[in-house]
Amino acid sequence: MLKKVTLNTIQKMKESGEKISMLTAYDYSTAKYIDEAGIDMVLVGDSLAMTALGYDTTCALGMEEMVIFTRAVAKGAKRALVTADMPFMSYQADLAQAVQNAGALMKAGAGAVKLEGASEHILQVVQRCVQSGVPVVGHLGFTPQSVNTLGGYTVQGKSFEAAQLILEQAQALEKAGAFAIVLEMVPEESAEYITKNLRIPTISCGAGRHCSGQVIVCDDMFGKYSEFKPKFARRYGDMRAFILDCASRYNSDVKNGDFPGDEEVFRLEEKELNNIR
Ligand code: KIV
Repeated sequence: MLKKVTLNTIQKMKESGEKISMLTAYDYSTAKYIDEAGIDMVLVGDSLAMTALGYDTTCALGMEEMVIFTRAVAKGAKRALVTADMPFMSYQADLAQAVQNAGALMKAGAGAVKLEGASEHILQVVQRCVQSGVPVVGHLGFTPQSVNTLGGYTVQGKSFEAAQLILEQAQALEKAGAFAIVLEMVPEESAEYITKNLRIPTISCGAGRHCSGQVIVCDDMFGKYSEFKPKFARRYGDMRAFILDCASRYNSDVKNGDFPGDEEVFRLEEKELNNIR
């Protein structure tokens, strides 16, 4: 019997010290296999803007697109807790719109949403979402949707003061009702300090070994997204080479007439052959 991962499961994992595994997925079959592999949380990350849609930045992604990808992933992941990223500007401008957009992702099959930052407005969004029945994961440290104001892809929390500020933001998110926090590109000592001073779990995305769990982008793990590999991601496969190999062999087979073969075609029955010839 499939035991679905819930918010309680995630909190208990933090308390028992069992590491939480989170991986992104953007389509039905990938989500299905990731789920079968036993991953605890599947993130429909807005990184799909780059990996699946080829945009230059996550900020280009719209709500309608996120709803479609969330629906596909939710159909595939039966056990894991599916968390959908709220796209840039789907929650920053207006409180009511933010709650409505979070609701649209839940209706598409998500079990939680993730949003970045901890300003007064964001804390209100978190509070209203949770009051409305939408579980929320926070995201602190390097927040990709603010890449333009942060001045580039830079490690955050590099001094005690900076780590303390992230901790205060994390505690405010915890108080507002977030059930977990992704820490991105933070030195592991700072992330450990933050994790130790929170009740809810932290999930590291380049924040070292002492968080309650880990998340990476599946295309980085598969070796599929070849434009760039973050220092903190680990490649477990070479899907680019695999796809290149399959597509090149198929191309040759088509050109040589080796594809399709006998077993890949439909044939007329014997009695019809005379009519057609
Ligand atoms: O968009 C994303 O994939 C993320 C990361 C935390 C992996 O937010």
